[in-house]
Amino acid sequence: MALAVRLDADTMRPLLGGRLGEPWLWFAACASTQDALRGTDLPEGTVAAAEHQTAGRGRSGRTWTDAPSRAILVTVLLRPPAGRGLPELSLVAGLAAAEAVETVTGLQTDVKWPNDVVVGDHKVGGLLLELDGGAVLCGIGINVAQRAHELPDGRAALPAGSLHLATGRDVDRATLLAEVLRTLERRYDAWAEHGLEPLLADLERRNWLRGRAVRVGGERGTAGSIAPDGRLEVVLADGTPRLVVSGEVSLEARGVR
Ligand code: BTN
Repeated sequence: MALAVRLDADTMRPLLGGRLGEPWLWFAACASTQDALRGTDLPEGTVAAAEHQTAGRGRSGRTWTDAPSRAILVTVLLRPPAGRGLPELSLVAGLAAAEAVETVTGLQTDVKWPNDVVVGDHKVGGLLLELDGGAVLCGIGINVAQRAHELPDGRAALPAGSLHLATGRDVDRATLLAEVLRTLERRYDAWAEHGLEPLLADLERRNWLRGRAVRVGGERGTAGSIAPDGRLEVVLADGTPRLVVSGEVSLEARGVR
């Protein structure tokens, strides 16, 4: 098997033209790219990329596993304007990641609110946004080249997938990462200036949860649209409409609509 190209500065710089990616920190292995940027005074746009994480983190305290040099594992340091919320930014980053995957692979790619990247009924990526003082550590994980045995066989709401399994071919990690950063910069700038409004229609087109059975607290409901403030509309079984935030809603059962 050919050696994978490293996602280091020498590989990435020729592919990047924007603000995101300068400076570029690369690790053959690190605990988590989130921690590599925590507590630093590095500028907005700094990217930490790793070939492998020994303690990768997902949302809600979950672990995020990888196979070395098979995935995109990056954290982008952002310094959004005061007053713009983390949940909104999470959707912005999720939309950018989904759009980039679709651009590079041609696969219809959705966002499972609030921040999973989904192809078909498989989760191929996820976003983890953490506050660090006035900065946001925007962690992006995308399963690119993993084979089936290299993916977690978790009890997560959605089974894990990879772009290799979805396309049946090798997807170039560097090309995809450059597209993710390009798209994120464009979407982030629009959001920083105007909020979520200009992104809502495109988010809604990729709203994987819409029409699916969900559980909110102890109650069953059906997921609806993403509201202008980034919350998810849910209609409970008794017809009561609710707006929910991340953590309040879970998928009722795998694949149930
Ligand atoms: C999730 O779906 O729960 C979020 C997964 C986020 C994983 C990325 S990989 C790069 C960055 N470093 C981490 O430890 N986590 C994020």
